Amino acid sequence: MTFSNSAKLNKLLAAQQHGFSLAQDFYKDIDVYHTEINQIFLKHWLYAGHVSQIPNTGDYITFEFDTESVIIVRTAQGEVKAHMNVCRHRGSRICLEKSGSQKALTCPYHAWSYDLDGELISARNMPDDFVPSDNGLHKVNITLIGGLVFVCLSKDPPSIDSLQKELEQIVDIFGINSMKLAEQKSYRIPANWKLAVENYQECYHCANSHQEFAKIHAMAKPPKLFQKAKTDYCEANQNDPKFAELNHYFDLAEQGQEGFQYDRNPLIRGAQSGSLSGKPVAPLLGSLQNYDGGASELMVGPLSYFLIYDDHMIGYRFLPISVDECICVVSWFVNGSAVQGEDYQLDELTWLWNVTTLADKKIIMNNQKGVNSRFYQPGRLSEMETFQQSFLDWYLKALVK
Ligand code: FES
Ligand SMILES: [Fe+2]
Repeated sequence: MTFSNSAKLNKLLAAQQHGFSLAQDFYKDIDVYHTEINQIFLKHWLYAGHVSQIPNTGDYITFEFDTESVIIVRTAQGEVKAHMNVCRHRGSRICLEKSGSQKALTCPYHAWSYDLDGELISARNMPDDFVPSDNGLHKVNITLIGGLVFVCLSKDPPSIDSLQKELEQIVDIFGINSMKLAEQKSYRIPANWKLAVENYQECYHCANSHQEFAKIHAMAKPPKLFQKAKTDYCEANQNDPKFAELNHYFDLAEQGQEGFQYDRNPLIRGAQSGSLSGKPVAPLLGSLQNYDGGASELMVGPLSYFLIYDDHMIGYRFLPISVDECICVVSWFVNGSAVQGEDYQLDELTWLWNVTTLADKKIIMNNQKGVNSRFYQPGRLSEMETFQQSFLDWYLKALVK
């Protein structure tokens, strides 16, 4: 019997009340954590990077969570492939850096060497009956969604056909295929990964904790005011395809397909982008001709989030390192033809989401400290935490699916 059908988990699930935060064990119990890794992180498509990070043959990036590490590499044929970063000799990590460029993937331990397709091409002094072709690197499923690289460690990944089709126009409008990564920062957070995800999914805390964000995003307003601003904004632009509303985040996931969601929201009147002044910080993206005072939210799979302003895109992912530590990776993308120093300045581009993420890190750490207390009990969620509630509903089902 696995933990996903154990009496302990069933008891926890049965006691969990809709409309309340999760019980302490969901944030602390090592068996719950291992179940999450198996049921969520090993089963879904996870955002690992962008093709612009590996333009040339041999360029690679690594993607890590929990105990796993994946190498994403540009092959000699120009394809993008993913291999487990685990040597087939005695298991050493092969690529030790976050990124680099190599003619071949050579293990630092005893120098077994693999070509960029993951085939073993050299291993010294092996017995006569050793078969190199049986010792290639484990392959990982990989797919590109508008140049964004997603990997799935399952043998049987959820389908992304409908997601690819429905997002095609959005990918095109913002030129996601041809964006380039301008900056990436990692924030280690001493808290369970769900506290980070839940925090990202609600703006109940925004007005309090993110003055900088609240000056730019209408979302930080009370629900009625925000809804009014959104209705006015969307009605005025309803024939524009970037105002499409695609809401398949959690329902598709139940039909063996990866869920996704896309939505457009207004900024505060007068703001054009997510920056200190609300003014643009980079050239317009893709085929956009003007700033319309909004930003798009895109979610691909349960754990990868993108916020698309008219002049830059932020990629957000939260990944567990262990039961009580996670990492938030924030990526800033600009139009592929923009030149740093001329068309954009890194400090201006990254300012808003750097201050916001640092503030969130503090909030999430303190949340975990309180959750660890003997006196913590699940608390009632507000009307501004409905999306967080949808995530929790999905999460609780995913644990036992
Ligand atoms: S563990 Fe990689 S060559 Fe020995
Ligand atoms: Fe926040």
